[in-house]
Amino acid sequence: MKRKLLSILILCSLAFTLVSCEKASYKIGIFLYDESDTFISSFSEEITTRLSDSYDISIYDAKKSQSIQNKQIIEMLENEKPSVILVNIVDRLSSLALIQKANKYNTPIIFFNREPVSSSSIDNKNIYYVGTNPVQEGINQGIMAEKLMNNPKNINKLIDKNNDNKLQCVFIQGESTHQDAERRTYSCIRYLQNMGYDLDILAMENADWNRSKGEKTMENIYTTYGNKIEFVFSNNDDMALGAIDYLANNNLLQASASKVLTPFPIVGVDGTKNGLSYIERKLLYGTTINDTAKQVSAIELVIQLINKQTTRDAVNDKFNFYKDSNYIYISGSAITVD
Ligand code: GAL
Ligand code: CA
Repeated sequence: MKRKLLSILILCSLAFTLVSCEKASYKIGIFLYDESDTFISSFSEEITTRLSDSYDISIYDAKKSQSIQNKQIIEMLENEKPSVILVNIVDRLSSLALIQKANKYNTPIIFFNREPVSSSSIDNKNIYYVGTNPVQEGINQGIMAEKLMNNPKNINKLIDKNNDNKLQCVFIQGESTHQDAERRTYSCIRYLQNMGYDLDILAMENADWNRSKGEKTMENIYTTYGNKIEFVFSNNDDMALGAIDYLANNNLLQASASKVLTPFPIVGVDGTKNGLSYIERKLLYGTTINDTAKQVSAIELVIQLINKQTTRDAVNDKFNFYKDSNYIYISGSAITVD
């Protein structure tokens, strides 16, 4: 009996040292493009809570500078020999140079949220991408508008204020070089056109995901088009909130009996804390969750795959690699005032 207890104790302490050894030896560098970006800061929190127990992680903020990020990555590759690096690249066009660097050190890269631009990356088995599904998010925005408009042949008059059976709309876009901005806008437009709606796009302006730039953009657009605007599609919640800031600061928000309180409905993407509270207050009509929990789960699984603790089939069972690539796109759920 005594001996049994002793051997259990020995086994436990052995298991304990094994686990802690593994944590110390599995070093992961995480490189953010800009921690002041609302969505990225919540992504970083999620990564820290989920990965820091099992891995030795270090997080770096490039503050929107690719040269700072290059330095941070090279320093880590040289001095700390990480087992894998997670890269939220500042400038997507720099991905090829980065891939070549990491290959020299035999270090796998998981890009996340900002997709690498490089034709060779897809074939490289040491390179992965995990991000949201911007096509689905654009379609969700289209569906939100569709629900409010009802019939393409006879659009709801609360929306179609000038009664021309066309939707006079505005797109506030993220960074011009960001895959999510481009795909959200494009898939939203294509969805609505496929459903038979006639779109009259009054303006399309970039506000770089940023709330105060969103406010400035709304000012430009509103001073030109005013009440001709019937719908605002924003590529993210922060810019949508900036647009609402402009309306609120200029007494343009109208209370009405309908479920949409602004002079026109505004929709975003991300489901940030603030975004959701604006939906509750019926200032923002809807959003789609940019699902950090699921994206981090996918990243975790890819780390295990790189580590040979799981198989490609097992990853595919849960998240599906896109076609034959190493890319995973995660869909989130849509939320509206309803
Ligand atoms: C998008 C997100 C934006 C912004 C951007 C940064 O997916 O919707 O709010 O955080 O990523 O790369
Ligand atoms: Ca109209």
